[in-house]
Amino acid sequence: MSVAIYPGSFDPITNGHLDIITRLSKIYDEVIVAVLNNSAKSPLFTTDERIELIEKCVKGLDNVHTETFDGLLVDFARLKNVTTIVKGLRAISDFEYEFQMALLNKKLSPDIETLFMISSENHMYISSSIVKEIAKFGGALTGLVPDEIVNDLKLKIEKRG
Ligand code: PNS
Repeated sequence: MSVAIYPGSFDPITNGHLDIITRLSKIYDEVIVAVLNNSAKSPLFTTDERIELIEKCVKGLDNVHTETFDGLLVDFARLKNVTTIVKGLRAISDFEYEFQMALLNKKLSPDIETLFMISSENHMYISSSIVKEIAKFGGALTGLVPDEIVNDLKLKIEKRG
């Protein structure tokens, strides 16, 4: 059975993430969306909330599961017995950081491969940080995050003040 781990902060999930997850679900038997549980990054949504939001968006994708992880990604992959990590690549600007992480992960765990999936053209410019900024200033979120979570994002931003 082919399994891929798609890791990230997902604070919150965007249409770019969902596009990659959907495409991956057609290639792999199982896709594990691995949500980093990292308090140091002070995310807008708690880990549980981020998982809830992802689950709302992947309801129709039966072979996609969401899990949380702490510590090193390669340790999580080893724990799950999965040897493929997939990262999304938007622009050239993503490449340097992703290249560094892929090489470090390879050094830490040579049996685990990182594969890159190029973002769809219409999602190239979307990132969770930009989406949060737009939400903060009341901009339109349609097309940036899945419709299922637009209100959750607006409410969270309102609560935060
Ligand atoms: O969505 P993000 O914030 O770009 O995702 C980054 C993530 C979670 C994939 C990355 O920070 C990560 O793998 N963190 C786990 C810690 C780790 O393994 N660090 C070493 C990588 S070289």
